[in-house]
Amino acid sequence: MTDRFTGKVALVTGGGSGIGRATAVAFAREGATVVVAGRTSDRLVETVELIEKDGGEASWATVDIAVEAEVEALVRTVVERHGGLDIAVNNAGYLPEPAGLAELAEDVFERTLQINLLGTWRSMKHEIRHMRAHGGGVIVNVGSVVGAHLTIPGAGAYGASKAAIAALGRSAAREYAADGIRVNTLSPSSMDTPMSLLENETPEERVERAKGMFPLGRIGSLEEGAAAVLYLASPESGFALGHDLVIDGGITA
Ligand SMILES: NC(=O)c1ccc[n+]([C@@H]2O[C@H](COP(=O)([O-])OP(=O)(O)OC[C@H]3O[C@@H](n4cnc5c(N)ncnc54)[C@H](OP(=O)(O)O)[C@@H]3O)[C@@H](O)[C@H]2O)c1
Repeated sequence: MTDRFTGKVALVTGGGSGIGRATAVAFAREGATVVVAGRTSDRLVETVELIEKDGGEASWATVDIAVEAEVEALVRTVVERHGGLDIAVNNAGYLPEPAGLAELAEDVFERTLQINLLGTWRSMKHEIRHMRAHGGGVIVNVGSVVGAHLTIPGAGAYGASKAAIAALGRSAAREYAADGIRVNTLSPSSMDTPMSLLENETPEERVERAKGMFPLGRIGSLEEGAAAVLYLASPESGFALGHDLVIDGGITA
């Protein structure tokens, strides 16, 4: 337990599972008061219980980041409940079923952009409005190596939505630096969540696939994902703005 984030309020979207849950737990261990948000309350409650068992402070709130009013209400709730918002991790994301661009259904593409790209923009919008009126803050958006740094056949919609998150982060970083707001992107490759499993693949088969695929011979752990988010949210990365931090076991090296 360290106190890097003592006195800070951190919001983590998608905090009921995977990278978001690990990030929420890590923030709380380092002293932050954490709010986890997503659509499924059971999973959010589980994250809060994990943090509380660990001696940390957390609460949860439901949100669908595809709905503007819900995102606005989420930021208001965090501020009313905990007295501010210092750190926002826009991690919620959606991976559609694989489809080549010639087969991709328009509504699937739209949904992918709606959640990953517009959902991240919408979240930033309300976070920034609060932060710039209250002396600044830090935003970390979770993109992906897919799209900006490598391509996977069948993941064109997802890749486009994730590459655009990094672009959006650069714009936001420039626009709000003078308001004391730092915005950066984390771009992971395969991390240890169901999202990185191929169709019908077991976690054990993924371990074998990773040996031949990644220079490091393995996928990333949730703790490694969380540590990278915390670095981007910490004063240690204070001179980094609009950066796109790739953590990928060397696959794009
Ligand atoms: N795992 C990987 O290999 C990998 C690699 C690169 C990037 N990423 C990115 O990392 C982030 C976290 O992914 P993960 O691997 O931890 O997968 P995950 O466990 O499926 O996490 C996604 C989270 O987003 C939430 N979410 C989805 N749609 C939402 C919506 N409309 N509104 C609010 N919350 C929503 C989900 O909660 P609810 O369903 O309860 O809403 C879930 O908690 C994603 O942005 C993903 O694209 C993952």
